[in-house]
Amino acid sequence: MITMDTVGLWAERLIVGNSRPWLCRRATGRTLEIAVGTGRNVSFYPPDVELMAIDVDPGMLDVTRRRAAAAGRRVALGQADAAALPYADESFDTVVCTLALCSVYDRAAVLAEMRRVLRPGGRLLLLDHREHRWRQAHPADLALRGGFVAEGRRRLWFGLIERLAARRP
Ligand SMILES: C[S@@+](CC[C@H](N)C(=O)[O-])C[C@H]1O[C@@H](n2cnc3c(N)ncnc32)[C@H](O)[C@@H]1O
Repeated sequence: MITMDTVGLWAERLIVGNSRPWLCRRATGRTLEIAVGTGRNVSFYPPDVELMAIDVDPGMLDVTRRRAAAAGRRVALGQADAAALPYADESFDTVVCTLALCSVYDRAAVLAEMRRVLRPGGRLLLLDHREHRWRQAHPADLALRGGFVAEGRRRLWFGLIERLAARRP
């Protein structure tokens, strides 16, 4: 039977495609995933990554907890606002955020927090969709304007979604 779940799964496979593994395999060391949602990325990280993840919604964290357990993946989960991360400055090697900057109230504040918690030389991995309302400031543009330096950037699906690997100088 076709349900919204199966439609969502097809859309995810078609549009997000290989972007989750493309991003996650670039994670190294102490890694923070921001706005983890239902944990769709957790199984794509290299096994030696020390993974932490936050979301503002405890229901999402419950789903991620179950998904990580099923995948045999250790992940330290916390409930937090991406605009006020409860971590020290320069305490992560990698920060990941997928399809979530579209959901937050203040994208610039969240990107500033990502930069704050990344060590110099640390890596930001971003996946988001581009929207008409953001014509002048898409998430990747905002990150680069905020001082990140692009390592790899690719638009897919006629520019509908965009992925970025960047470094904090
Ligand atoms: C569209 S989902 C994306 C989830 C996941 N990153 C993915 O790729 O499937 C957006 C997520 O952002 C979370 N979120 C929204 N605002 C947030 C905030 N200020 N701080 C932390 N998480 C937030 C929501 O609870 C939701 O889980």
